[in-house]
Amino acid sequence: MSKLKEDTRLSIPGEKISVPIYVGNDIFSEVTSIIQFDKYSKVGVLMDKNVAYHWGEEIHRVFGKKATYIVIPAGEEYKELSTSEKILTSMLEHGFDRKSILINVGGGMVCDIGGFSASVYMRGISFINMPTTLLAQTDAAIGGKTGIDFGGFKNMVGSFSYPLAVICDTLMLSTLPEREFRSGFAEVIKHALISDKKLFTALSETDFGAMDEESLAEMLSHSCKIKCNVVTKDSNEKGLRKILNFGHTVGHAIEMISQDTPNSLLHGEAISIGMVAEARLSLLAGLITKDDFSKIENIMHKAGLPVRIEKSYKTRIYSKMLGDKKNEQNKIKWVLLNGIGKSVIDEEQPDKLINKAIDYILA
Ligand code: GLY
Repeated sequence: MSKLKEDTRLSIPGEKISVPIYVGNDIFSEVTSIIQFDKYSKVGVLMDKNVAYHWGEEIHRVFGKKATYIVIPAGEEYKELSTSEKILTSMLEHGFDRKSILINVGGGMVCDIGGFSASVYMRGISFINMPTTLLAQTDAAIGGKTGIDFGGFKNMVGSFSYPLAVICDTLMLSTLPEREFRSGFAEVIKHALISDKKLFTALSETDFGAMDEESLAEMLSHSCKIKCNVVTKDSNEKGLRKILNFGHTVGHAIEMISQDTPNSLLHGEAISIGMVAEARLSLLAGLITKDDFSKIENIMHKAGLPVRIEKSYKTRIYSKMLGDKKNEQNKIKWVLLNGIGKSVIDEEQPDKLINKAIDYILA
């Protein structure tokens, strides 16, 4: 009997989109029970080098000799046009047509660039996401945002395009380096902060370093449901979906700056620091209490996430933030908290407060 159990479904009725999300342990090999691969003219499997190293053999066993395996370098800095070009070239050289399918097996980078490449190849072919990091399972693989970094800015080129299914196998998390694993907690904490006080309280009592498989799957499932609920109501990010960008205005700026240094930050690490800055801005704007702010900073510590950045970042953060695609008419539009579990969008704030919030996160 198949161990695949649909956990959540991302449905966007107006757009006839309905994406099943499966969560479980040791389920990835069962993908063949939900998708009839014979139906597709070509099957491509996209992985990065790390995934190929840890899971390559098992993945070959599942998809067999007929599939085309495309392996790209690991690391957010490769989420760029030239890597997408390699994926597209490989599909073209292997004779992929409109009836082909791409399976993205990897973290947020692989799901983003794989989804993007599938969405533009012959104006769009089917794809499936099999996220292998906590961060991708809780956020990047769900919600239809695909893209690449471009011109020094995050996700500047991309599309809304939905996978046929998302398979979140917690077994795949077992080979993640500790740092990478912890980075994923940032997006789970974000989901709690923007819309679910109860989840925040539960996470505050969690021992992040000693989660058993069951509590991990439960936390993941809860977090996926929050994301689906938001995306269902506003798939194209005209309003509500913007709350998912909490921590990302400062966080994306820091992430991009760090990629030019020898100590590049993982996405979740940059977002953790970004959330502290944006929570500080919420405090300075009188939207949250000092007590709430302390709880927010403490939970990042507890999850083993960074909350400070080197002073040398200061001068570049503001200019990077000005290039953020969420801005309008050169004005930074903030997502701020107005309580734990509550958020507001499209907030404009004076430079004086923004500077103070940025100063707070400088080590
Ligand atoms: N990661 C933010 C979003 O999907 O909207």
